Amino acid sequence: MKFKAGIVGLGAIGSAMLRVAGQDTIGIEVNPETRERCSWWAGEHRVFESHEVVGECELVFVCVGTPHNETGTDHDLSQIRGVFETLRPHMNPASLLVVRSTVLPEHLPTDFPCPVLVNPEFLREATAAADIIDPPFVVVGTPRTGMAGPVFDWYDSVKVMRSAPKLELSIPNAILLKFTCNWWHATKVEFANMVAEVAALSGADGRKVMEAFALDQKLNLSRAYLTPGGAYGGRCLPKDVSAGIAGYDGKADVSLLKAVQAANDRRRARG
Ligand SMILES: NC(=O)c1ccc[n+]([C@@H]2O[C@H](COP(=O)([O-])OP(=O)(O)OC[C@H]3O[C@@H](n4cnc5c(N)ncnc54)[C@H](O)[C@@H]3O)[C@@H](O)[C@H]2O)c1
Repeated sequence: MKFKAGIVGLGAIGSAMLRVAGQDTIGIEVNPETRERCSWWAGEHRVFESHEVVGECELVFVCVGTPHNETGTDHDLSQIRGVFETLRPHMNPASLLVVRSTVLPEHLPTDFPCPVLVNPEFLREATAAADIIDPPFVVVGTPRTGMAGPVFDWYDSVKVMRSAPKLELSIPNAILLKFTCNWWHATKVEFANMVAEVAALSGADGRKVMEAFALDQKLNLSRAYLTPGGAYGGRCLPKDVSAGIAGYDGKADVSLLKAVQAANDRRRARG
């Protein structure tokens, strides 16, 4: 095959990948303005409109968007569904389709002409350039153990992710890991905001509290309390959550704390 890899969709993720890749990696993009912008720095010979060229690529990375839908209740799957159908007739059975877009396992194509892998992206949009060079890990989900080698080799070839741990997981495990990370980050955002709000009511400085909180890497920022099991218990967690709700509910937004208490109570009741 002529090219090592093709990147389909040159938005935040796809263009960051194309930037670090060598001349043997090309991009395919439907938006003419984005194509023009990327051609400017990547070279016109590396940016394509037609999907036909994926037949010449060993690896085909899918980086199209999965934004919020109009009602904000789910992903809008139109780009990802569209790209699978557009790519289908052009795929070489010897290639690997590597889905980088964030989708649930049930939204991956079945009966595709070549094997389908996933390679979730963990970068933050605001620091994409730095994060793509230094990601926390490179995760590849495969239908059978031992298929991730070509993807890890591509990352080695771009010479920027060598220090990152490389994990080959099942496809559902890899995808759920991606969602788990974002659910965790989303929870942290509200947690920090809630702490700041209640802290102010007691004359404390939320930023200082959170700065000190993050220094504890034994219990706070660690694997502690992150093993699935039963509801919380012991003498401290349930009573101190209750005291936080009793002390601040109605004066600050402690809905996160109340949801945590309710979820633990329901889990304990289910046994
Ligand atoms: N942006 C981030 O920080 C980030 C981080 C982690 C994961 N992700 C995930 O990665 C995926 C891509 O995100 P993004 O922010 O780069 O999206 P984006 O919206 O910036 O870019 C998507 C690009 O795909 C192009 N496209 C759509 N359909 C196409 C097709 N059929 N053929 C070729 N190009 C097509 C669009 O024109 C657009 O340029 C999403 O699933 C997102 O959730 C994004």
